[in-house]
Amino acid sequence: MSPIIAPSLLSADFLNLRTEIDMVNRSEADWFHLDVMDGVFVPNISFGFPVTEKIAQCAEKPLDVHLMIVDPDRYIERFRKAGADRISVHYETCNNLHRTVHAIRNSGAKAGVVLNPHTPVHLLSDIIRDVDLVLLMSVNPGFGGQKFITHTYEKCRLLKELILSTGSDSLIEVDGGIDLENAPKLVAAGVDVLVAGNTIFTAADPMATIRQLKQIA
Ligand code: DX5
Ligand code: ZN
Repeated sequence: MSPIIAPSLLSADFLNLRTEIDMVNRSEADWFHLDVMDGVFVPNISFGFPVTEKIAQCAEKPLDVHLMIVDPDRYIERFRKAGADRISVHYETCNNLHRTVHAIRNSGAKAGVVLNPHTPVHLLSDIIRDVDLVLLMSVNPGFGGQKFITHTYEKCRLLKELILSTGSDSLIEVDGGIDLENAPKLVAAGVDVLVAGNTIFTAADPMATIRQLKQIA
């Protein structure tokens, strides 16, 4: 089955965001991936509610919101109101992950949990049946355009095993350094959703690049 493609707007041209969103609307991409950074959990600051609301007004595909922020519980309702269809929180930021995941679901959004490169997959064994999505970071979060960490393949396989052995219906998403070379290997390792920033937005023909990612079987 072809993967779900989620272009990361972090790599888009912010001066021409409307044009970039229209391109994604017309393309074969499935979701918009929005990277929210607070300058505390990660060493970068991106955007928050006003920009998310504006994106939601012209996006014709679901918004997949990746929260790289401390204390995400405080902002779940506001991101949902701003237009988030999926909200993913980092395992590393949640002391009461079960509560957070259910707060996301109660808001009406799908719930995702994100693991940094150093966080092992087995830590999800007691929450995996409660989540709609696990996002494996294949770079250290904070910036687009970084090098893919190859240990991610092994984590994908372990996560796929965990999902199958527990009867979870969670999707597997990977984020960071994805290109046309590693994407087929990720899909072969069981990945359902590919996030791509630089590979799409710096391409000569972004729509063609999205099509190439979408055609991976
Ligand atoms: C990194 C972000 C990613 C990033 C992906 O912290 O979560 O979504 O923007 O960009 P590329 O594909 O360029 O690594
Ligand atoms: Zn992301």
